[in-house]
Amino acid sequence: MNGIKLCGTGAAAPVKVVTNDDMAAMVETSDEWITTRTGIKERRYCTDETQLSLCMDAARQAMDRAGVSPADLGVCLVATISPDFITPSVSCLLQRELGLPEDCLCMDLNAACSGFLYGLHTAQCLLDACPRKYGLVVGGEAFTRLVDFTDRTTCILFGDGAGAAVVRSGPDCPVLHTVVGARGDEKVLHIPGAGTGVPPYIHMEGTAVFKFAVETVPKCITQVLEQAHMTAEDIDLFVLHQANERIIDRVVKNLHLPPEKCPKNIARYGNTSAASIPLLLHELCASGALKPGMRALLSGFGGGLTWGGAILELDGEAH
Ligand code: UT7
Repeated sequence: MNGIKLCGTGAAAPVKVVTNDDMAAMVETSDEWITTRTGIKERRYCTDETQLSLCMDAARQAMDRAGVSPADLGVCLVATISPDFITPSVSCLLQRELGLPEDCLCMDLNAACSGFLYGLHTAQCLLDACPRKYGLVVGGEAFTRLVDFTDRTTCILFGDGAGAAVVRSGPDCPVLHTVVGARGDEKVLHIPGAGTGVPPYIHMEGTAVFKFAVETVPKCITQVLEQAHMTAEDIDLFVLHQANERIIDRVVKNLHLPPEKCPKNIARYGNTSAASIPLLLHELCASGALKPGMRALLSGFGGGLTWGGAILELDGEAH
């Protein structure tokens, strides 16, 4: 099977910035509590933006940076749990807005915060069977529409945003080493669906999810490294789901990773679910921290419960 390489990234965030002090005006909380328990200082909320407009913006940037035209794309996958519509899918609307060929496979994925990793894995498999060799993988959320703004235990955590990646499949691309996992459980994290008579707000047992994350993510990273016959030293950057700074720090400590290889942007965006990993990945590419030829290990966890990890190399010709 042909592997994939990363060719270009993009990201988009709403204009409206909501600080911890703004949150404290809505619910009984404080900048001090949020900062020490989560590392979050601010997040972005959609006003004029929609989930689709964020995804479009991020996808266009990724295509520009990769230097691909719509006709080059054979696969368009969008990871999200907060789309503007249940149907049509976001990926179908991207087909129209970006002018993708009608035989481009367009599909949305629901793996909550692990969605971008599920998307990369799926893109590699689908592209291997596709005559066109480029794929678009987007993670985009207008997550704040799923938040109960009277529940201080959840509302302070989440924000809106999108990140996108163009990947290329080819015999010269290393196989994307991936671990994806699922363990069905609606007790610790769920969002009710349409017709249940309950508002579609996130319900979460924070401590149980925290425990799940600090056990699962290090295990997942270790498994991906083993699968690739690599060690942490072979990885240039670890791009981890930005859910809580304390979770990231525990993963770094447990695996003895150099903290400088584990960048964070949670202070500025909070938890943006499926957008979190591609948003950070884009910042690293745009700043030049991740250079052509370098390898990033991406890993995350989320509702489902789900988790995932993948080792992605930046294409030599990307910028
Ligand atoms: O993307 C995947 C989704 N989710 C996650 O990754 C979430 C994982 N979990 C977490 O990040 C943490 O569990 C939280 C940040 C959600 C909570 O932190 P914690 O250290 O586990 O706090 P806790 O739930 O044990 O609550 C401690 C106290 C409680 O008060 P009492 O019972 O000690 O009096 C809470 O009522 O903090 C209280 N509390 C708050 N206080 C001020 C809970 N939320 C707030 C708040 N402001 N926003």
